[in-house]
Formats: sequence, C-alpha cells, structure tokens
Amino acid sequence: MSRYAHITGWGTALPEHILTNQDLEQMVDTTDEWIVTRTGIRERRIAAPDQTTATLAADAAVAALKHAGVKPTDVDLIIVASSTPEHIFPATASIVQDMIGASRAGAFDLSAACTGFIFALNMAAQAIRSGSLDTAVVIGSETISRIVNWQDRNTCILFGDGAGAFVLQASETPGGVMEAVMHSDGSGADVLMLPAGGSKIPTSPDTVAHGLHYVYMEGRPVFRFATRVMAEGTREVVKKAGLSLEDIDLIIPHQANYRILESAARGLKLPMDKFVVTLDRYGNTSTASIPIAAAEAAAEGRLKPGDKVVFVGFGGGLTWGALLAEWTGPLPDREEIHPERYRLWARLRSSGLRIRRKFLAATTREKELGG
Ligand code: UT7
Repeated sequence: MSRYAHITGWGTALPEHILTNQDLEQMVDTTDEWIVTRTGIRERRIAAPDQTTATLAADAAVAALKHAGVKPTDVDLIIVASSTPEHIFPATASIVQDMIGASRAGAFDLSAACTGFIFALNMAAQAIRSGSLDTAVVIGSETISRIVNWQDRNTCILFGDGAGAFVLQASETPGGVMEAVMHSDGSGADVLMLPAGGSKIPTSPDTVAHGLHYVYMEGRPVFRFATRVMAEGTREVVKKAGLSLEDIDLIIPHQANYRILESAARGLKLPMDKFVVTLDRYGNTSTASIPIAAAEAAAEGRLKPGDKVVFVGFGGGLTWGALLAEWTGPLPDREEIHPERYRLWARLRSSGLRIRRKFLAATTREKELGG
C-alpha cells in the first residue's frame, strides 16, 4: 500500500506592529519610492519584545494543528526551519515541542537560510512516505528584526518577522507532497551571512564593535543568483514529477523582491497571477515567507484541494530548492480540537517537569554528599 504525505493544516503568526516605508524614511537615508520600485515592499511586521522565534512558531503550529484537527499529543515530529533560531542550541523545535505540549514528538531545527522551509517540508514528507512516522509539523519562523542593523539601508528595508506552519499527515489517498529538488552552492556562503556568534567568530566586544552580529548581504550577486534559480528550480521539480508547467495551478515563491518574482515569471513564460505575492505587506520573512503566502492563498480561495502547487525558494548557503505538491486539506477523520486547553496543559506539564528535574537534582546531590 502506497503512503502519501498530505498537507492537512496550515497556520500563521504575524506580529501586530507594522513598520512602514515611511517609518523607515525617519530611520535611514531612504525613500518609500526607492523601496517600492526596487523591491515591491511597502511594510513589514516587527515582533513585540515578548515575542521570539519560538513563541511565533508555537502560535503558528497551534493554528495549523487546529486547522488540521490534530492534537499536539499525536504529533511525531516537529521541524523548525529558521535563520534566527532562539539559540545556537538547543533547537528552537525542542522549545516549541514543550510550548505546545507535543509530548511524543521528536524535534530538531533545520538550517538552510530562506530555503529551509522547503527542505524541512521535504524531509518530513519523506519520513512520512517511508512509514517512519505519521504526523509532522513543519514550521518556518523568524525574528529577523533582532539581527538587522537598523542603520544599514542596504538590508534593514528588506526583512520582517513572522511564522508559518504546515501539518503533514500520512494518507493512503494519492495527493500531498509529490516531488522536491534541493540544491546548495557553498562557494557563495560569504555573500549572505551572519558573520559572528558562531564557532568560527565567537561573539566578543570586538565583533559587536564591528557590527558582525548583523546580517551581511551583497545584494547584487544574491539578486543575480535568485533570478536564475527560481525559474530553474521550478522547471526541474515539474519535470521530475513528470508534469509540464501548464499543469501547475499556482506558484508560491520565497518573498524577497518583486523584481526577482517578475524575472522568474518571465523565465517561465508564466503570468504574474500564477504567483502568490505577500512581500508588499510582510517584506522578506526568510523561512516563514512560503508558509505565510500559502496560508493566505488558501484563505483567499486561490489554493484549492486538487490544485498542483510549486513552492520555490532560495537563500543563504547559497541554497535553493522547489517542492511540488497536490494541495489537499484536512483528512476526513479530522477532530475538533481546542488548542487553548492544550496550551494550558502544556504549561502545567512543562512546570511539573521542571520542578521534578530540580527536585531530583537536589536529592541526587544530597545523596552524593552523603546526606
Ligand atoms: O532571502 C534572500 C535575501 N536577499 C535577497 O533576495 C536580496 C537580493 N537583492 C536585492 O533584492 C537587491 O539587490 C537590493 C534590493 C538589496 C538592492 O537593489 P539594487 O537594485 O540591487 O540596488 P544596488 O544595491 O545596486 O544599489 C543601487 C543604489 C546604490 O547607490 P549608488 O552606489 O548607485 O549611489 C545604493 O547605495 O541604491 C542605493 N541604495 C539605496 N538607496 C535608497 C541601497 N539601498 C538603498 C535604500 N534607499 N534603502
């Protein structure tokens, strides 16, 4: 019996605070006109001080689980793709697992910059299709506002915060994730990076003084690379699935720059209305941009069960990839779930586990001291 990995739920978490191009005009030497004509971005969301990559990820995951009608306790795997993880370690996914009370789930982060969501979706789908697990939550979540230099007009105008999540479930009905392609060219690692804070250049007063803890990007080479791989990746995945571009109902691209999307559309000889565009309102939310765009397209009725959709992205690494899916929706045995009850249960469970761990550590120490 063949197994398929259906996308059965989706959800987003978008911070309330909106930073407009007019706001940016007060912060750096730029204009709304320059930003709109060069990028298509008009505004972006900025996380509140109490919002982090993990809290946004957990909110998006819970919304997606509610949509799919899946209990957090039925989740086998959580993958968080992020360019702004909560810490170098532990994985943000582990923190999310605790926050949503996914007590049975394994959890790990996947790092492939903005392409991360596509790679994570493919990994989860392959684990489901192989029979290794039944239910996965894949999340793209970012608080890029925390690593952007708000005095650098070359980068600060581009990015925004937010999260998007998909629930993937095993099904014997054909549909869901069909094919994917994943690529990387590490010779371009230095054109888009966060230079310091890793093991090569640990954080020090010197790295902070030189601003090495901020996003570094050489815009033009990234732009050239992006315009090439968006069309190439799309063609490659469509061919691999044995389909042609005419079979594709919708393309959900990584949202970096409207000119990159126009160039991909030209390269594929497709009209722009085949592409979902959200960057005007959210800017570039890195790994979160594709699931946010997909959730919006589904809410607007642009993405319907049976549609063939290509998710295509690129980013630091350099990395790029594309994934072709047949859009499905919740499985027939969907249950009504109440996420707020699970969030409360998750908080109680987490507090209980923490108290128990402290108690055990204290009693073990007493025993060691012969007490
Ligand atoms: O997730 C992947 C992340 N990254 C990307 O996808 C980024 C890809 N690259 C891009 O989207 C574009 O390269 C940018 C939007 C970043 C820049 O657009 P561009 O058309 O490539 O501009 P440029 O870097 O060639 O700069 C043109 C001019 C420069 O001035 P001079 O040297 O010609 O006098 C810049 O200093 O525009 C200037 N400039 C700005 N002016 C006003 C750069 N940023 C700004 C700004 N406002 N914010």
